[in-house]
Amino acid sequence: MTDHAVGRSGRFAGERSAAFIALNSSLDLDWRLWPEDIEGSGAHARALERAGVITAADLGAIDDGLARVAAEIESGAFAPRDADEDVHMAIERRLTELSGAAGAKLHTGRSRNDQVVTDLRLHLRRVIEGQREALRGLQELLLARAEPHLETVMPAYTHLQRAQVTSLAQHLLAWFWMLERDRDRFAVALDACLELPLGAGAAVGLNYDLDRGAVAAELGFERVAPNSLDAVADRDFAVDYLAAAAGLAVHLSRIGAEIVLWASAEFGFVTLPDAVSGGSSIMPQKRNPDAAELMRAAAPRVAADLQGLLSTLHGLPLAYNTDLREDKRYVFDAVDCLAALLPVVRELLAGLAFDNGRMAAACTSTLMATDLADELVARGLPFREAHHVTGALVRRCLDLGCAFDELPQAELEALSPALAGGVSGLADAQRSLAAKRSEGGSAPARVREQLAKAREALEA
Ligand code: ARG
Repeated sequence: MTDHAVGRSGRFAGERSAAFIALNSSLDLDWRLWPEDIEGSGAHARALERAGVITAADLGAIDDGLARVAAEIESGAFAPRDADEDVHMAIERRLTELSGAAGAKLHTGRSRNDQVVTDLRLHLRRVIEGQREALRGLQELLLARAEPHLETVMPAYTHLQRAQVTSLAQHLLAWFWMLERDRDRFAVALDACLELPLGAGAAVGLNYDLDRGAVAAELGFERVAPNSLDAVADRDFAVDYLAAAAGLAVHLSRIGAEIVLWASAEFGFVTLPDAVSGGSSIMPQKRNPDAAELMRAAAPRVAADLQGLLSTLHGLPLAYNTDLREDKRYVFDAVDCLAALLPVVRELLAGLAFDNGRMAAACTSTLMATDLADELVARGLPFREAHHVTGALVRRCLDLGCAFDELPQAELEALSPALAGGVSGLADAQRSLAAKRSEGGSAPARVREQLAKAREALEA
């Protein structure tokens, strides 16, 4: 077989080795780009025709041929082979088999170097649009789940120690805003995809003045890459996607980690839905938080994908180098990781059954110590002194094993004259919650405002 398909037929006398063909094939990395490759090829053919490089009859044959190749791929009638090297050569080979001379003109004024990165930008744009939509779906779900829980008290933690009273709504909305920043970052990555490389040729531009603006418009790009060398060497749009994906994966890992904790018997705040829980092969009683654990485990994987692409780009001289084909390994690994994860995250969040009683019971009086200190401030103590007195009171409560509003009056008076007025009502979680009235705070009135802001963010 002569290696016509990979541009070797004229230049080389010898054949490629089988081992090299296997190594050099990027089909396992890039085959999924076939729809975009066909789309980009059609736009390129139209640019060639408009520039008078090919005839209207050639264009017609190419268009028909590309449609047939697409149909054959979809039906499974056509499959690439390693000798094709990549998706671009496979499609061009089949096109030429089907439409002969016209097909053989398609690669005029085009290189795989500008072709591959055009395909990838087109493909990634669609992926990001889809994943941004999935993110919005998660945010809508979190909003809906938060809304009934403005007064459902639970502990907030610092250092994983019970700290102060908050509400389940406030906590779920914290997750909402994390995802909102991810959606913003996905929008930045999406915009970065919208620059058209096609027309850069192999590196320096073309001997044809193709209308790149028209190609960009046809393919839905917003801008034409302004420098041919940069156009074929640049993968920053993919870095942007991976950075956004890694940020999202880190957020999902933090949410997953909290769900794992909450589902433990020690917390008992939540029961996981059957649909996304695992069992144990030996312990019949187990309901394992596998889905939440896998949310946690995705972060290192996607962060490694980002690291992989950055490392591939590191030190690469301009312009195209074969190293760059590895971009797709990292990008698609992250794409696939999130594609598998996001629907499960949705099912998990939708099915969490909260135990309001357990969460309220965890709001012991010590979580209201800061409220008590603030009350002592209102009674005229400087905050530092109020902090000290309240700390001593908490210690006394722990010694006696009681809540601070159960301490006898004599005990209170012994601690500070400021406590002589008593502390009744101060160990009430609802009161504590309602008192968190600063903007962005946990008070139900403030969370209601926040819900409105969140809705606005989703509609913007
Ligand atoms: N398959 C390559 C990639 O994925 C595109 C071909 C680049 N050009 C070349 N002369 N090898 O990046």
